[in-house]
Amino acid sequence: MYKEIGKKINELKKKNNAIILAHNYQLPEIQDIADFIGDSLDLSLKASKTDAKNIVFCGVDFMAESAKILNPNKFVIHPDLDAKCPMANMVNPKDVSKLKNLHPDAEVVSYINTTAEIKAMSDMCCTSANSVKIVKSSSSKKIIFIPDKNLGEYVNRYVKDKELILWPGICPTHNNIRKEEILKLKKAHTNAQILVHPECRSEIIDLSNYAFSTNGMVKYVKESIEKEFIIGTEKELCYRLKKENPDKIFYPIKSAICPNMKKITLEKVLNSLEYLEPKIELTDEVMIKAKKPLQRMMEAGRGD
Ligand code: 13P
Ligand code: SF4
Repeated sequence: MYKEIGKKINELKKKNNAIILAHNYQLPEIQDIADFIGDSLDLSLKASKTDAKNIVFCGVDFMAESAKILNPNKFVIHPDLDAKCPMANMVNPKDVSKLKNLHPDAEVVSYINTTAEIKAMSDMCCTSANSVKIVKSSSSKKIIFIPDKNLGEYVNRYVKDKELILWPGICPTHNNIRKEEILKLKKAHTNAQILVHPECRSEIIDLSNYAFSTNGMVKYVKESIEKEFIIGTEKELCYRLKKENPDKIFYPIKSAICPNMKKITLEKVLNSLEYLEPKIELTDEVMIKAKKPLQRMMEAGRGD
């Protein structure tokens, strides 16, 4: 059945001059039909360079919104508008205004996991692939870093000459990864390297060999001489890792699932290609204001 839907998706993609972009946490069958799979940074870069008229974005809301901000004249179709990142909704414009008033000398660095309205109020955006690089690049000594507290604490490890004002947002999927789960896997697979996402809590980062964005992990695994890896992020990244490195072994954290990423199904992708709906709609004002911090993020490139 997947094969049949995949065939129809391919036909409609050609007919509608569309490209399918998918995040590394998407279901295996979505990864298999995507034209490009990546992390938040590489997906933004890809979206900014495509010639396709229609971008079907398989990921969560802030990723599809970023693609729209970077392509105001294209259609960005998000197969399920309910696929929302809960962390992105843990800070709102009122909170940010209050913080800005309290710290008028600070620059606002917002994680890409924010709404378009928050980006529009920010000086710079970052992803987990360049958060340290972006904060270091600021000319300000004080940074309001929103909304991920864990990522902020991770940045704090590497940036000693700036004061970071953190916000208590978290990613439920990463924040729930327990030390015991990692230690149990390490005990069973003593040769495995531990790679974790910087959205994990500090005590998890302390246990790891490295903390990387999802594409940082993809790159590291490909270049590493090691053969076994415990993957401390959303479990679906292991599908891509295994596909690209069949000779290596990956141990996922089985409980690390992002339910919103899983809302995108093949049927919904097919439907969105048939009707070119639902589209991401943002006001011109928000798009114009949010583009600048996103562009600064992309110009910085990867830091991992
Ligand atoms: P990456 O940019 O590393 O893919 O992370 C995105 C995300 O939402 C992690 O939970
Ligand atoms: Fe948001 Fe976490 Fe899901 Fe990433 S894994 S999209 S941060 S809820």
